[in-house]
Amino acid sequence: MSTLKVGVIGVGGIARTHMPGWAASEEAEVVGGCDVNQDVLGQWGDEHGVKRLVTDPADLFSDPDLDIIDVCTPHALHAPFSIGALDAGKHVICEKPLAVKPDEIRQMIAARDRSGKLLMTAQHFRFSGTSKALKAEIETGALGNVYHARNWMLRRAAAPNTPGFVVKAQAGGGPCIDIGVHILDLTLWMMGHPTPVAVSGVARNEIARQDGSFSIWAGPLTDQYDVEDFACAFVRFDNGATLILEVSWMLHHPAPHTEDMQMWLYGTDGGCQWPDCRFYRTSFPTRQFHDSRLMRTKDALEPHAQECFEFADAVRDGAPSPVPPEQSLQVMTILDAIYRSQESGREIRLDEA
Ligand SMILES: NC(=O)c1ccc[n+]([C@@H]2O[C@H](COP(=O)([O-])OP(=O)(O)OC[C@H]3O[C@@H](n4cnc5c(N)ncnc54)[C@H](O)[C@@H]3O)[C@@H](O)[C@H]2O)c1
Repeated sequence: MSTLKVGVIGVGGIARTHMPGWAASEEAEVVGGCDVNQDVLGQWGDEHGVKRLVTDPADLFSDPDLDIIDVCTPHALHAPFSIGALDAGKHVICEKPLAVKPDEIRQMIAARDRSGKLLMTAQHFRFSGTSKALKAEIETGALGNVYHARNWMLRRAAAPNTPGFVVKAQAGGGPCIDIGVHILDLTLWMMGHPTPVAVSGVARNEIARQDGSFSIWAGPLTDQYDVEDFACAFVRFDNGATLILEVSWMLHHPAPHTEDMQMWLYGTDGGCQWPDCRFYRTSFPTRQFHDSRLMRTKDALEPHAQECFEFADAVRDGAPSPVPPEQSLQVMTILDAIYRSQESGREIRLDEA
C-alpha cells in the first residue's frame, strides 16, 4: 500500500515541529508545501526535500495525489483552508485554535460530515506520555467524582508579538485564545468533557498597554497590539463540576521557564496535578495523607510530532479523529463566552437558546 501523501499549508514556525512526526511515520510522507512567503517556502522545501511548492492552497487541494492537508497558517485562515481541503476530499489536521468563532467550527464540522474524511485539531499537549499516563490513571477512577478544576497558563513577558497573534482582526483575541485553548483543552479532556453551561469571564489589557512593555521573544510590543493580555473565567458544567481558568502573556507572576502552566483536578477520592503527575489523597479512617507520583518516561517523539504520527495512523486505520472537532467546539464556546461576558459584565448561559 502506498504511503499517505501530505501537503502542509503555512510552513512557518509550528509547521517545523510537525515534520519529525510525518518523517517518523511509516504511513505518511510530506510531498507538498504552500506558503505566501516564497523565501520561507523555498528554504523549507530545500530542508525537507519537498519539491511540490505552491503559493496558492487551491493548488494543493486540487492535487489528486494528496491525501492529507496539514493547516499551519494564522488563526483566521484555519476555517477556510480546512473547509477547502475537506471539500476537495482530503483529511485535515489543523493547528489550534481550530477556529476562533464557534460558528466557524460548526461549518468545519459540516464540511467534515459532507466529505466523510477526518478532521483533527492539533492539541499537542494531549500527546505527551505524561498527559496520556495521567488521563489513563484518572480513567481508572483514581479521583472519584471530579467536581472542581483549576488551570492556568501564565507568562511574565512572553507575547508572540506578530499581527497574526496580537491584532484582534487577525487573531480573534489574545492569550485567552492563543494559550487558553491549550490548557482548557487539556483540562476538559482529563475531566471527560462535561458539557459547559455557564461562563463568567474577564479579558483585559493592563500590562501590554504600558510604555516600554516588551516580550522576551520579540522586544518592544508592536503599536498594533489591541488584544487582552490577561483573561480569567469561572465555568459551570452540566454535571455540577466547576472550573477556574487564568491565562496571560504578561503578568507580574514568576515564570522561570517562560511560563507557569498547571492543571489541578479535585475529586471526591483524590486530587492530582499536571504536568508533574502528583496525586493527593486523605484516608479519613486512619487520618493519613497519601502523596504519590506517576512514573514518567521520556517520549520517543516530541508531542507536536506525535500528534501527526497518530493522525496518520488514524487515517490509515479508519479510526476516529484523535482530537475530534466537537471537543474543540466546546473549548472555543467557553473561550468565546469569556469575551461575551467581558462585554456584558454578566455570566453567559450556554444552555439557553
Ligand atoms: N501548538 C502549538 O504549540 C503552537 C505554537 C505556535 C503556533 N501555533 C499555531 O500555529 C499557527 C501558525 O503559527 P506560527 O507560529 O507557525 O506562525 P508563523 O507566522 O511562523 O507561520 C505561519 C505561516 O503561514 C504563512 N501564511 C500566511 N498566510 C498564508 C496564506 N494565505 N497561504 C499560505 N500560507 C500563509 C505565513 O507566511 C507563515 O510562513 C497559529 O494558528 C498558531 O496558533 C501552535
